[in-house]
Amino acid sequence: MKLRHFAPIAVALSFAAASLLASAQQPIVIKFSHVVAVDTPKGKAAEYFKKVAEEKTKGRVKVEVYPNSQLYKDKEEMEALQLGSVQMLAPSLAKFGPLGAREFEAFDLPFIFDDYASLHRVTEGPVGRAMLGRLESKGITGLAFWDNGFKVMSANKPLKQPADFRGLKMRIQSSKVLDSEMRALGATPQVMAFSEVYQALQTGVVDGTENPPSNFYTQKMHEVQKYLTLSDHGYLGYAVIVNKKFWDGLPTDIREQLGVAMKESTRYANAIAATENAAALEAVKKSGKTQILSLTPAEKSAWRAALVKVHKDQEGRIGKDLLQSIYKETGFNPAKP
Ligand code: LMR
Repeated sequence: MKLRHFAPIAVALSFAAASLLASAQQPIVIKFSHVVAVDTPKGKAAEYFKKVAEEKTKGRVKVEVYPNSQLYKDKEEMEALQLGSVQMLAPSLAKFGPLGAREFEAFDLPFIFDDYASLHRVTEGPVGRAMLGRLESKGITGLAFWDNGFKVMSANKPLKQPADFRGLKMRIQSSKVLDSEMRALGATPQVMAFSEVYQALQTGVVDGTENPPSNFYTQKMHEVQKYLTLSDHGYLGYAVIVNKKFWDGLPTDIREQLGVAMKESTRYANAIAATENAAALEAVKKSGKTQILSLTPAEKSAWRAALVKVHKDQEGRIGKDLLQSIYKETGFNPAKP
């Protein structure tokens, strides 16, 4: 064969080599979608994970964070993760029901956690680990729990007694426990995507809502809610989840480094959550637009008495055994709310 016959083969081979090299150098992209502002515990922790993950993998992984429902709203982001359109999310624990993981709604139960310490006995112990493990059958790998905080209630009227909720339309996340909570207070729950809450409050589609102060302030809810009650009646936090197929398909060393990055980010998230919420509450106070109300011990007892029935109502949905194992960690006793 003449030399000129080799030329096209040589060209093709060098193209193939170049494209192989290029694909070897292409970073693995992790699209991390979430619905809150950057300046929140979850928003900051996602950015922190990006930084640590990219450093630890020396650029072999690129994390693209999409905050503020930029890419997907609540429901769509779950579907996108399962389809593989995004690789990582950190949805609120109140949003796992539609996936068929109803037991995560245990975290929404009123007054089940007194403080972060009692919560961490669950999320950082065997009960939490087992809960994350059960996501595997849904094609999802649960990597960690990230804190946000304890919720306040808001409306355009003061909410001091359970009777004050009567007739109010209250926005909730898609959790049956939260539905039951609002009904126990005599309110009408309305499930709504997080990105739509501000406008719904502004236009009167709903009268009030619940969230930790960090979400309340960064969504500017203080502009459209006259009263906020420091009720600490429930917890809102997250599970960081990845598409299982994607995660299992990563090179082992990359998966390990990402695991370490996730551990560090979890430490960071949980270290900043309380102070972020305190700062947000301070900012609401400073705005002068929302009056902040505290509950007297008698008022708090009335809330606990009105809401304890939610535990019994939802026991079948969450699972009696799981509930008992959480009570054992937190010390909550539904017989003595
Ligand atoms: C909400 O929908 O109120 C929260 O889940 C938002 C969030 O992710 O913190």
